[in-house]
Amino acid sequence: MEPAADGSPRTLRRVPGPRGWPLLGVLPQLRRDPLAFLTQAAARHGDVVKLRLGPRRALLVTGPELIHRVLHNSEGRYGKAAFYDKLVPVIGHGLVTSDGPFWRRQRRLVQPAFQRGRLAELCALVCAVAGERVAAWADIARRGAALSMHRETMALTLEMAVRAFFGTGLGGDAEVVRAAVAELQLGINRRMWAVTGLGARLPTAANRRFRAACAALDRIVYRVIGEGRAGAAQGGALLAMLLDARDEDTGEGMSDRELRDEVMTLLLAGHETSATVLAWTWYRLARHPEWAQRVAREAREVLGERDPVYDDLSRLPVTRMVLEETMRLYPPAWFLARTAVEDDTLAGIRVPAGTTILLSPYVTHRHPEHWEAPNEFRPERFDPQRAVERPRYRYFPFGAGPRRCVGEAFAMMEMQFAVAMAARRLRFAAASGGAVTPMALVTLRPREEIRLRPALRED
Ligand code: HEM
Repeated sequence: MEPAADGSPRTLRRVPGPRGWPLLGVLPQLRRDPLAFLTQAAARHGDVVKLRLGPRRALLVTGPELIHRVLHNSEGRYGKAAFYDKLVPVIGHGLVTSDGPFWRRQRRLVQPAFQRGRLAELCALVCAVAGERVAAWADIARRGAALSMHRETMALTLEMAVRAFFGTGLGGDAEVVRAAVAELQLGINRRMWAVTGLGARLPTAANRRFRAACAALDRIVYRVIGEGRAGAAQGGALLAMLLDARDEDTGEGMSDRELRDEVMTLLLAGHETSATVLAWTWYRLARHPEWAQRVAREAREVLGERDPVYDDLSRLPVTRMVLEETMRLYPPAWFLARTAVEDDTLAGIRVPAGTTILLSPYVTHRHPEHWEAPNEFRPERFDPQRAVERPRYRYFPFGAGPRRCVGEAFAMMEMQFAVAMAARRLRFAAASGGAVTPMALVTLRPREEIRLRPALRED
């Protein structure tokens, strides 16, 4: 959008956007079908669309250059939106919900635990969990039964996260952790789309279960932190790294409360996201057997029958291309929100402080101006040679800039190995014919069940 004829920026009033309801604005349309609504709004009104979300003024920004400006927040113009405050009662002030100098310090403390070198230590653990699950699927294949794939992948990535944080020393509490995390995930999904916070305070059975899950998880996390501090650590490698983390400037580590908040944040941010990508990946591979075949061939040539090692990741480019294309079509973090902290000018529009900015990887990833045949599954787009040529910010499943996903390398490792390890032994076929469509909750979940029938590979 161009500035006004006299060169001065346009005001928000002049920005086009869909009409909304009195008071509620476009909230009813957004709640009904956010993916279709935002996609149509961008198609009809362009790279910057005005949206009225109740009393809040928001801009949907879908153009790559503009996304770059918002996410590369070097001048501190855009902060985390008030939107994420709803998560504070559960995950406290961890990386996802915090901002400013506190966030910067926490990021410096947490990031080293996820650097590639440290991840090599977690590789054996991740592959052991994947190996157990693939063995279970092979048994199901022998019985000729079908799998509910999203349920399977949620259990798979939760187990990887639980063992990465807590090791195998949780005993009976491991089951409590698994059940509590699953319950919290459900509760967060309900809260994200509530118009007011009132529903969360009512004495309903769901709210009671939510609070009990929070308390159970707190008890266990604090116990494991206490044991770790006393040197009787039963924790896994990730928790040990966080316990040892020290600020370079001050030499200080995290308090128990800060550690608890980061562990909760990482457990919740880190398992549903990769679980949905894996479910969609196997759904797509079942529909594109030529790609399933290529992934299987690569896995057999590179891994044979042995356990993967960290360096194998770079030897599995086809598996990576398939995952990248899946995240283009189904980015788990399908929208990101920011608030303008101070006035800015974006695409010739004056953006007053306090304006909410919505970015949607889903909308930008499927935008016909940026992608040929945007709704088709074509992993060859991510051929490393072609990916180098692609301008940035058409594709940002892990976000961008200083707040880019801290767990990206961990996620890619667990997903690449899980897909390759399954592919070398199994092929999956759709157990029911219908198409599965995405449903926009906190992540992009499959609306219908993904029922797949595994079969042992004989080729
Ligand atoms: C396929 C898997 C994943 C996807 C697509 C994903 C996506 C994202 C995105 C888009 C952001 C940026 C949010 C924003 O800018 O507002 C983010 C941030 C974050 N992610 Fe991930 N994520 C994934 C897996 C993980 C894993 C495995 C972990 C941890 C074990 C993790 C932990 C985090 C944390 C802590 C942040 C906040 C970082 C900060 O603000 O400093 N994520 N993720």
